[in-house]
Amino acid sequence: MTHVFHRHLRQAPPVAAGAAGMTIRDAAGRDYLDASGGAAVSSLGHGHPDVIAAMHAQIDRLPYAHTSFFTSEVAEQLADELIRTAPAGMSHVYLVSGGSEAVESALKMARQYFVEIGQPQRTHFIARRQSYHGNTLGALAVGGNEWRRAPFAPILVPATHVAPCYPYREQRADETAEQYGQRLADELEAAIQAQGPGRVIAFVAETVGGATAGVLTPVPGYFKTVREVCDRHGVLLILDEVMCGMGRTGTLYACEQEGVVPDLVTIAKGLGGGYQPIGAVLAQKKIVDAMSQGSGFFQHGHTYLGHPVACAAALAVQQVIHRDGLLAKVREDGQVFGAMLREALGDHPHVGDVRGRGFFWGIELVADRAGKKPFDPARKLHAAIKQEAFARGLLCYPFGGTVDGKQGDHVLLAPPFIASRGDLQRIATLLAESVAAVTATGAPR
Ligand SMILES: Cc1ncc(COP(=O)(O)O)c(C=O)c1O
Repeated sequence: MTHVFHRHLRQAPPVAAGAAGMTIRDAAGRDYLDASGGAAVSSLGHGHPDVIAAMHAQIDRLPYAHTSFFTSEVAEQLADELIRTAPAGMSHVYLVSGGSEAVESALKMARQYFVEIGQPQRTHFIARRQSYHGNTLGALAVGGNEWRRAPFAPILVPATHVAPCYPYREQRADETAEQYGQRLADELEAAIQAQGPGRVIAFVAETVGGATAGVLTPVPGYFKTVREVCDRHGVLLILDEVMCGMGRTGTLYACEQEGVVPDLVTIAKGLGGGYQPIGAVLAQKKIVDAMSQGSGFFQHGHTYLGHPVACAAALAVQQVIHRDGLLAKVREDGQVFGAMLREALGDHPHVGDVRGRGFFWGIELVADRAGKKPFDPARKLHAAIKQEAFARGLLCYPFGGTVDGKQGDHVLLAPPFIASRGDLQRIATLLAESVAAVTATGAPR
């Protein structure tokens, strides 16, 4: 009998007993190949000696000091390193303990910015359907996944949701990728105008959509047009790179590949690589200046802001990524991985789409390829694939509700950057076997 309030209350998960590199071992001695880095968290795999040494050294030196009294050397070093490698114009880093906290902080920073500059009438956020920004109330409010929002909808702040960039399902046959991107940006502009002049605080979007839609890569030009729309209306652009940032797509920030610079960017998972809970918001100078020249204070805060051991882990993770040339490796091996996935899964009658970038891939499953018809949600195909893959020793990250929060199934893959090509091939093969085994069963559609 467990006293842990587990995610699911009618079944207890197996006990993870140890982990090294690409592998997690359970208490029964079974090994699992970690093809999703948990939830796209582990960039360096498990047990990296440099990160562990940095954490040990920090624990011996200074495990904790509250940020209302002190800063710490390691938080300063991490912020320097993050600003050194940040999108242009970012001047400060707000260090929190995870992705949802980063998103909450960004939403409040954006709101306070407008209060500071004399535009308190800006009260509304716009985000996208099928997005995921975290489970705390502000993050859930901007999140666009209907299933996650539904029980809490009456207590969420109002937000408008526009279409995601989802070419597989929503780009029309008679429009180019550029025209599709423009149509989406036009929808955003109409949503901003519908609120009335000067009412919208920010547009919030994952640069590459992750958990709830199965890796949606933006069409070329989409984010540039979005940036122009935001600028035209004085609306901030908050990019949520909690999942897709920190090298996951082959550049440190996914927005580098879109040629846009956000006003605020959130990062988390790959920042600490799973060694410590840590997240951050990077802010453009104009936002920091508005506060420093105004109230002089960001009206927010948590007990564990800038936690020294978390900062030490994150700094070590970032240093290893740069020292070992892992961004270039993710770019190169990411192409190879994509080809492996297409080869292993692309012709399967129930694989509708294989999409992604770097070490961030989504496989969308369909009952009927030609019509892109999703499986009956009652079949819970995604859960069956997770279970089948687990039984074969593969950890992947499948979800349902891909299409609209209810229908659709996908599998998300996000292997650690240290994965060898042999590991990547094993992942593709094991996943293809799992998908084949599950879709071949006569379970009702
Ligand atoms: C894009 C994005 N934002 C925010 C979050 C929330 O992060 P956390 O689970 O660390 O609170 C997630 C988690 O999956 C995410 O993918």
